[in-house]
Amino acid sequence: MFDFIRRPFGYEPILTKEDLKKPKEKKGERPNNWKDVLLRIWRLVDEQRALLITVLVLVALSSGLSILGPYLVGHIVDEYIVAGRFDGFGRMVIILIAVYAGLSVAMYLQSFWMIGISQRAVFKMRTGLFSHFQRLPVKFFDRRQHGELMSRMTNDIENVSQTLNNSFIQVFSSILTLVGTLAVMISLSPLLTVLTMTIVPLMFAAVRWVTKRTGRLYKAQQRAVGEMNGMIEESISGQRIVKAFSQEDRVMEEFTEKSERLRRTGFWALTYAGFIPKVMNFLNNGAFAVVAGIGGILALTGDGLVTIGTIVIFTEYARQFTRPLNDLANQFNTVLSAIAGAERVFAIMDEEPERDDATGQSDTILKGDVEFRNVAFGYGEGDYTVEGVSFRVRPGEAAAFVGATGAGKTTVMQLLARFYDPNEGQILIDGIPITELPRKTLRSQTAFVLQDPFLFEASVMENIRYGRLDASDEEVISAAKEANAHDFIMKLEDGYETILSADGGEISQGQKQLLSIARALVADPVLLLLDEATSSIDTVTEMKIQEALERLMEGRTSFIIAHRLNTVRKADMIFVMQDGRLAESGRQQDLIGSGGLYDQMLKGAEL
Ligand SMILES: Nc1ncnc2c1ncn2[C@@H]1O[C@H](COP(=O)(O)OP(=O)(O)OP(=O)(O)O)[C@@H](O)[C@H]1O
Ligand SMILES: [Mg+2]
Repeated sequence: MFDFIRRPFGYEPILTKEDLKKPKEKKGERPNNWKDVLLRIWRLVDEQRALLITVLVLVALSSGLSILGPYLVGHIVDEYIVAGRFDGFGRMVIILIAVYAGLSVAMYLQSFWMIGISQRAVFKMRTGLFSHFQRLPVKFFDRRQHGELMSRMTNDIENVSQTLNNSFIQVFSSILTLVGTLAVMISLSPLLTVLTMTIVPLMFAAVRWVTKRTGRLYKAQQRAVGEMNGMIEESISGQRIVKAFSQEDRVMEEFTEKSERLRRTGFWALTYAGFIPKVMNFLNNGAFAVVAGIGGILALTGDGLVTIGTIVIFTEYARQFTRPLNDLANQFNTVLSAIAGAERVFAIMDEEPERDDATGQSDTILKGDVEFRNVAFGYGEGDYTVEGVSFRVRPGEAAAFVGATGAGKTTVMQLLARFYDPNEGQILIDGIPITELPRKTLRSQTAFVLQDPFLFEASVMENIRYGRLDASDEEVISAAKEANAHDFIMKLEDGYETILSADGGEISQGQKQLLSIARALVADPVLLLLDEATSSIDTVTEMKIQEALERLMEGRTSFIIAHRLNTVRKADMIFVMQDGRLAESGRQQDLIGSGGLYDQMLKGAEL
């Protein structure tokens, strides 16, 4: 359609099939169990019941007033204007003004209070979800994409908020207005009601015809925006790669295509959307003409069935009738998709949190005697990632884990930190199974220096303090000195107050490691788990790290996943992992020259 308008100017592009292709119904657009979800949402709102009832009363009041308004106008027309009566006319007009003023106030208050209700409910939902995130096991996050979880936290919850805000009032007021208007219309004139009712479906159908198309075009436009944004983000964050591989032209081409699609869909979406008020207007005027015409004839033939006032009332009601009908139809999809979003949020809230059924004392001070007894563990259902792992490390000893990539070294550490629980076997610290130690007790005495240290968007000071939140500035600085990090920190723009970005882009890989060693030093743990970074670092930094590590390991039971010979040499015990099993273990002097795996590794100087 509209090609004939477009063609003479020849510049507005036709939508392609691709533009309008129906997006595959995304999983979860429709709720599976909307009753349960509604019940749970209700429970969130329930404690504000008094306010909610007030809102409902106001909705009823405003629906009543919006029906009363036109009725009064009709009354004024019949009783005063047509009848030519003056006394009391002014009073009626004042009442009429009061009705419309009351209507405005009621509408304002109901939406004001409803916003409060929905924001509070959504606040509860959001904090509930976030605090649940904190209690979920690492396993849960392994299975999800971060973006997806983010979208639960933001989009889905925002959707619920919007819907609570708008739909709740709209659905109620639409129903009330429809029923009320119809009742008054029938009582005034069944004949005119029937007449109006024949026009209403027509209006409704016409409006639906347009909105359905705009709806589809809006969706197409949104999709185009989404695709374009995704691409912009990708090309900005991957900008170095784009340049490095000289992909600028290809990226530009792809962008132009996406941008062009946005232009096409945007143009038609706005064009169709612009129709709605015009169509409504036309049909309203049409309804007005029909009601006025036929009503007028009826009034003129004068058997008293229809008065001029009634005609006035009906023309107004005919207009009032289409809006709630349309609102209801539009709300349907919004409400469904919000319920589906809420369902996804609740599904996460129902995920089982990390259980802490430990019976041990929470103030247990660990000595750091660690034993693995025939431990087996798999991330998923299938095969075990590590199996048959048994060893003992005594307090204060340093144990080095070596082995090929993917051998299961990090996995063993994660089991020790209780990020996961073994499927078989037992892990004991000081003879206590770690499942009996409260997680807090275990973790507050353990420090984990990760393979790829994570920094928060905060100052250097705060990033180091993360190891122990009550550490004083002096303690942080002295830890940084011990970690050989002080010098480079002082060279940063604002020293310890320099704000780091989340990806730590402003400091080097080696400096990041020094910071995370300082973080571990501040924590002053009994157990130290250290996953040495695989990336190679210049010799000077390397030496600094080695030195810092030695200080850090002193007097603690340390587990070091080593990729560098120097680190391994400092260890008391060496464990060689191969395909998830401990292939070899022993003291340095026993393994060297034994011709075993470690010996071969030393010769190849590759860990
Ligand atoms: N979160 C996870 N979910 C599923 N599988 C995992 C997960 N983490 C590791 N794995 C798998 O477990 C195996 C052992 O991984 P692990 O990280 O323990 O190896 P690694 O010895 O530390 O290797 P590297 O020296 O490269 O760090 C690998 O095959 C890996 O794919
Ligand atoms: Mg690893």
